[in-house]
Formats: sequence, C-alpha cells, structure tokens
Amino acid sequence: MRQGAFTVVLVSLSAGWLAAPAGAQQWEVNYDENKVPQYELPDPLVLADGQPVRDAQTWYTKRRPEILRLFEQYVYGKVPPRPEGMKFQLQLLARDALEGKAIRKQVRILLAGTAEGPHIDLLLYVPSDAPKPVPVFIGLNFYGNHTVHPDPGILLCESWVRNNSRYGIENHRATEASRGVARSRWAVEMILRRGYGLATAYYGDIDPDFDDGFQNGVHPLFYKPGQTKPAPDEWGSIGAWAWGLSRAMDYFETDPDVDQRRVAVMGHSRLGKTALWAGAQDTRFALVISNNSGCGGAALSRRRFGETVGRINTSFPHWFCDNFNQFNDREDQLPVDQHMLIALIAPRPVYVASAQEDRWADPRGEFLAAKGADPVYRLLGTDGLAVDEMPPLNQPVMSTIGYHIRRGKHDVTDFDWQQYLRFADKHMRR
Ligand code: GCU
Repeated sequence: MRQGAFTVVLVSLSAGWLAAPAGAQQWEVNYDENKVPQYELPDPLVLADGQPVRDAQTWYTKRRPEILRLFEQYVYGKVPPRPEGMKFQLQLLARDALEGKAIRKQVRILLAGTAEGPHIDLLLYVPSDAPKPVPVFIGLNFYGNHTVHPDPGILLCESWVRNNSRYGIENHRATEASRGVARSRWAVEMILRRGYGLATAYYGDIDPDFDDGFQNGVHPLFYKPGQTKPAPDEWGSIGAWAWGLSRAMDYFETDPDVDQRRVAVMGHSRLGKTALWAGAQDTRFALVISNNSGCGGAALSRRRFGETVGRINTSFPHWFCDNFNQFNDREDQLPVDQHMLIALIAPRPVYVASAQEDRWADPRGEFLAAKGADPVYRLLGTDGLAVDEMPPLNQPVMSTIGYHIRRGKHDVTDFDWQQYLRFADKHMRR
C-alpha cells in the first residue's frame, strides 16, 4: 500500500450492480486530492522520436497514427475490419410511432450475413416533421432497446441480459416488465423535438458483459484457425462495443433519413469509455459525448483518483486488452494517458461530462484530460477547451471541447441531454 493512502470497502463504490470479485481488495482507493501522486503526462505534440509536432499535417500523418497504435496495442486492443458479408435487415417500420412524433425503424445488423450468426438490433427514431436527412445521436444501452422508452412497439431484447429484479429481468431474459425502465436516461421526446434522431442498440448484442474468455459475442467470428481467445494486443469488450457502434454507422450510410455527416456518438460510464474509443478510431462520427466515463474513459490514469487501472483490470478483466494489465499500479509507465484519447477526436467536437458525486470516475481527472487535449485542438485551428479552471457546478463550457460537472450522482439526466443538444446545435449545424 502506498504511504498515506487509505483503503475503503470497494463494493459500495462501484455502480453497485457488479460485486467486486476477490482480489479487487488489494487496490486501495484514494479520494484525497492531496494524495494524488506527482505525475508527468506524455506530450501529445511530441513524436515518439522526440521531434515536436508543429503543424496539422505532422499531426495527421505522424503523431495521430502513432497515438492510435499505442491505444490499440496497450489499452483497448486492435479490432478487425468491417465483416465482408454483413447485411442489414429491416425488421419493423412504423411511420406513426410515439403518437405520430416519430418514424421508428428496427434494423437487424447481421454481422456474418446470416440469421444464425451474431447480430446487433438497432432501434432508430427519426422525428416525423423534421426535414430529412436528420442528424442523429447514437448510444449503446445496458439492458435492451425496449428499456429506453415504454413504446410498446419496441421489440423486446432477445439476448442474454444481466439479472435485475428491479427491472423485471430474471434468468437473464428481458420481460415486458422492463419496458421503459431506463427512460430517464434517454430524453427521447426532447431529442426528437429538437430535430434530432436517436439510435440505440443493446451492448450485450455485441458482447455480453461478463468474463467468459470471449467465447460468446462477436470475438469468435474473427478467430484465426486454432485461435480460442484474443491475443494480448487484440480487442476486449470495450473494443468490441466500439466496433459495434461503427457497424451502426455503416448502416446509417445506407439510410436516407440519416445525415451520415452529422452522427454524434454518446455513452455513459463503461459505454462512455466505449463512445470515446469509437469516436477516436472512426472519424465518421462527427461529435463525441462522454458521460461520466471515468477510468479508461475521459479520466487521467496517472492521477490514481477513485478507480485505478489495477482496480478496473481486476474487476473487469474482459474490458481492455490483456496488455493493459502491464500498467496495473504502474500508470507512469503508460505510453499514453487519456488526454491523448480525447486528442484523437480532434478537431471534431467532443463533450466530457462529470457529476459531482461521481468521485469514483474522478471528475477533476476528466476535466484535466479534456484540458490536456486542448493543445491538439488549438493546433488544428479550434478554440479547444476555452477555460483554464474547472467550471462551477452546472455551468457548461461550450467550446469545441465541451465540459460540465453537474450536481448529483453517476447517471444520465435531462440536464446532461439539454447540454448535449445545445452543444450539437452549436457544433453540428449543417
Ligand atoms: C463500475 C466501473 C466503472 C464503470 C461503471 C459503469 O463502476 O468501475 O469503470 O464506468 O461500472 O459502467 O457503470
């Protein structure tokens, strides 16, 4: 144990729906700003060979690819390309959903091109009265598409889901009782009213969120002959979820109702980590939103505040690539830190949102990572993150890097969506 730091009971700190496995206890948790270690961040504008990056061209052709490769190699793992045989199947179309306010499309993405292979069920709402094509927000959900709104026309999720008695989920199957249980996180009507579409898919369609050695989900589809699990530098679950978001983007490119140049990818918590990684790799996403993404997302690893690299790799061994384990308790050895993940998104607008009570995700570390990406955003001709200090509670900053810390706990609220819509209005206009 490091001197001066203190240990607390860990289970109560996490989202509460995944108990900490034995072994997690070895990772101490620091919530004291005075005990944040001294650290030095890798400079996003210095090449691996020590040369400074002074112009956009050097950024795009040399430094950006270098950083992208480091995140693939050591953090999230490499991902395969779009599968050749992939097909889109429109399952249900309703022109009069939500009392006529929306067109509702439900599309099955057949990843191997066959009904038997893995598939992602995409739900898409498009505002009926808005001129087409519309800009769209896409985000993965935790318990099935039918949880984002009580709309009875949403197909019930058929995949394995985490049991949750509060949500009416037993034996890992969704039931009618779970319709709309996550609606407070999705602001569907507000989004439609503002002229945006909303798309979502269940993250477990891509890879069920438990450590099974990657036997289910999309990974096996890509194993080479004799391969039984991803190599140490190949994708874990976050890599797979992000890859799934890119497959949804592939679909958008075929849908005339969707403006493929104005697709914003958004995610909360582990899915916020996922949204950042999806936006970092896939430049078709025009705007990226990280909601309370924390460790392995927007928060700086070197601060070791709240959740740490060692702790996250112990509790969730399947999220990152195996190489990431090399940095358990050795954050200073990481060739990257999370400000560089945000920098990969530049100059596209990115919004980082924290919550005051969400100390586990290290709000200050999230702000400092956003600030750490600022030099890259400025090199590329934008206003970066246009404040020097963390703003007061509930006072959003709307520069090309957006940021807020709101009152309250780890969650997605209407306040958060109000800011994302303002941000999108400002930065994603036609
Ligand atoms: C846990 C985990 C976090 C994650 C969160 C969530 O708290 O430690 O890293 O962001 O779950 O996804 O809800």
